[in-house]
Amino acid sequence: MQEYEKAIRERLSKDRMEHVLAVRDCAAELAAIHGLEQRDAELAGLLHDYARDISADQLLSMARARGLVTCSVEEKVPLLLHGPLGAQLIKEELGIDNPHLLEAVALHTLGSPAMGRLAQVIYIADLIAPGRDFPSVERLREIARNDLDRALLECFASTIGYCLQRYKLIHPRTIDAWNYYVVSK
Ligand SMILES: [Fe+2]
Repeated sequence: MQEYEKAIRERLSKDRMEHVLAVRDCAAELAAIHGLEQRDAELAGLLHDYARDISADQLLSMARARGLVTCSVEEKVPLLLHGPLGAQLIKEELGIDNPHLLEAVALHTLGSPAMGRLAQVIYIADLIAPGRDFPSVERLREIARNDLDRALLECFASTIGYCLQRYKLIHPRTIDAWNYYVVSK
């Protein structure tokens, strides 16, 4: 775990590193409550923003080179590629091959239909970890401790609502995730 912490520390700013450590601890707590492997949750939390400090131009060109660009929204907002590219880079550079962990890193920003449990925990932890501050965050933290499925749906609602209110682009996979989980409730 320490070697991975060193690898991520070398790539991220001090503030981003603080966020990453907060997500690691939040994910570990949610894993403990909901019966997931705690070490996987910690490692996924630690590595989820591996590609977050890569510039937009670089994100786009590195993602293109690996065939990871799937829609025009990603070309307009290359930041959205830091999840899928991060998953690919931790595989290439750190030799991580746990598919659940790679999925969690890849999907942590946009979500997806039919996410694995670890991916759900990281998606939620990224939104509610200490340091995140928005009106419903305390309510989301409470829900996440009690009902992971409900928390996931509420996190999608919060993210989509945020984008709508600010006239931001919404990635179609996030809409697909919403439709998948709202009807599967
Ligand atoms: Fe991220």
